[in-house]
Amino acid sequence: MAETMKTHGAGTLRAADVGTEVTLAGWVGRRRDHGGVVFVDLRDASGIVQVVLNPDDAPASEQELSSLRMEYCISISGLVHLRPDDMANPELPTGEVEVVANTMTVLSPSETLPFQIDDRIEVDEARRLQYRYLDLRRPSMTENLRARSKVIRAMRNVMDDLGFMEVETPTLIASTPEGARDMLVPSRLRKGNFYALPQSPQLFKQLLMIGGVERYYQVARCYRDEDLRADRQLEFTQLDFEGSFWGQEDVLATLEAISTRVTKDLRGIDVDQPFPRLTWHQAMERYGTDKPDIRFDMQITDLSDVFAETGFKAFSGVLASGGSIRGINAGALGLSRSGLDGLSARAQELGAKGLVWMVTEDDGGFRSPVAKFLSETELEEISTASAAEPGDVVLIVADETQTVLEVLGQIRLEVGQPDGHDELAYLFVVDFPVFERNEDGDFVALHHPFTAPVDVREMSEDPGHAISKAYDLVLNGSELGSGSVRIHDPAVQAKVFETLGISDEDAERRFGWFLEALRYGTPPHAGFAIGIDRLVAILQNAPNIREVIPFPKTQTGADPLTGSPSRVDDDQLRELGVEVRPAVMAEWAVDEAAGD
Ligand code: AMO
Ligand code: AMP
Repeated sequence: MAETMKTHGAGTLRAADVGTEVTLAGWVGRRRDHGGVVFVDLRDASGIVQVVLNPDDAPASEQELSSLRMEYCISISGLVHLRPDDMANPELPTGEVEVVANTMTVLSPSETLPFQIDDRIEVDEARRLQYRYLDLRRPSMTENLRARSKVIRAMRNVMDDLGFMEVETPTLIASTPEGARDMLVPSRLRKGNFYALPQSPQLFKQLLMIGGVERYYQVARCYRDEDLRADRQLEFTQLDFEGSFWGQEDVLATLEAISTRVTKDLRGIDVDQPFPRLTWHQAMERYGTDKPDIRFDMQITDLSDVFAETGFKAFSGVLASGGSIRGINAGALGLSRSGLDGLSARAQELGAKGLVWMVTEDDGGFRSPVAKFLSETELEEISTASAAEPGDVVLIVADETQTVLEVLGQIRLEVGQPDGHDELAYLFVVDFPVFERNEDGDFVALHHPFTAPVDVREMSEDPGHAISKAYDLVLNGSELGSGSVRIHDPAVQAKVFETLGISDEDAERRFGWFLEALRYGTPPHAGFAIGIDRLVAILQNAPNIREVIPFPKTQTGADPLTGSPSRVDDDQLRELGVEVRPAVMAEWAVDEAAGD
């Protein structure tokens, strides 16, 4: 489509365009003055090209040329030239050419910038977010936005090809239990009542299945009031989908189709199918986590049997109190004595009583501060069980099994994670438990309470060990998404609520409408949700999801650009029937006095 203000994208020009008369528009990136001739890196959404502004060609008045500053928005017309051989810039896709301008117009000047628009310059994140519109001009950010758009388009294409229908669901809803705190919105028309923002479209997609939509998907915004981390925001985006007359295998096959297509479209990589699978139990035992990074092996080995008769008190004590002793062969770490002791300190920081390191020597024996406490047989068995080669470091932790697994799982990541990010290791984790215990010892749903148990009777008799039909998709050690086969039998649903300690009356009050819906011929159904922010961040090698979200919140949930969250006028509150508690106002006063 012909555009009125430019003929080409700056980043699209190549040697083949030499001799073409072009009009470009964009921003002044770098600007260099060589004895009156001004060289400008002109940047637009397509990339960067060098523009030569020579006063001899009179592209603009001398005064205009000399007043040109960084990030001025300009337009130029001129001829594409080949750069002299020694001036070509192989780093730049347009590096073989430059545009010699014969006209230049300043469309919009720019004030002095709060920071330079340059990928090579580190800027404090709060500042970047305060001026996100400038930050987005950085080529890496443009690239992240483009990648996000590509991923979502690839997803929509696959879903469409597979016969899914895109359906929107409301974002002003009644609270649904997804495990996090709800974000609430006060109602003006019904004062004192609140909508919740959806933690996910979970119940609506199930209603769509009851409503006869057999294949649903949506690029859905979700809201969860939880503590923020590198991979968590208050609002985030899911590719949410659900299918009727579906079981686990249908969901996993669909996930393979989506993931391989997205990876191919964005990274050009063919991912092998089927994806490897681990049960939740295997994942925990071998990797100490339910989201193993399987780009490297380094599995956890149970050494408890080796030490059944041990004279080493630290170990025998743990076994006597029902704990276990496990180790990893961390390979040749090349660490000094103090580096190895650092791992022991790290294990303690992570909550273990200690960590024993053992370096395998050339004769197969071990160098370790505890070697002298262990018998010949024990040393040999450690060596065999962990397949230790000369140079390999075996790391052993003895403690409560849960602690041992968590700590070794974390140490494994810290010593083993590959530097290069080219490899993409997708993995399914299946057979999650139905319940876990919270800090108070009460059962809570590990996935969510609409997940089907494998065996209803087992769930009633031994809830702590019951397995569910829930599964996760893991990529490079990150939980990309979760899903499950759903309960479609109201009696089973009631049973789950009961185990969760939700009384009949409570269930009726909170989910009565849903329990009723289940009674009108609900088809068996199953589904999943992929965290799009996490997927794009991993595919882009971004250190956190904020890098792939156009306008994210800071770690404390604030937006430094627009100033949200913010206080509102009393009038607005009055209209909503809402009042700020005196205690909170007192806190405001304290903050104000402190100058916050
Ligand atoms: P779940 O709660 O596991 O499942 O969420 C699915 C995926 O969404 C992403 N995600 C997040 N991303 C960024 N910030 C957050 N705060 C955040 N929370 C979750 C993760 C996660 O794996 N309704 C169910 C799905 C289903 O059963 O179909 C659900 O939402 O990548
Ligand atoms: P101690 O006998 O407590 O001085 O411990 C001797 C060594 O054993 C130290 O290197 C400790 O880090 C290690 N150690 C002690 N307790 C444990 C444990 N539960 N698991 C692994 N290593 C331990």
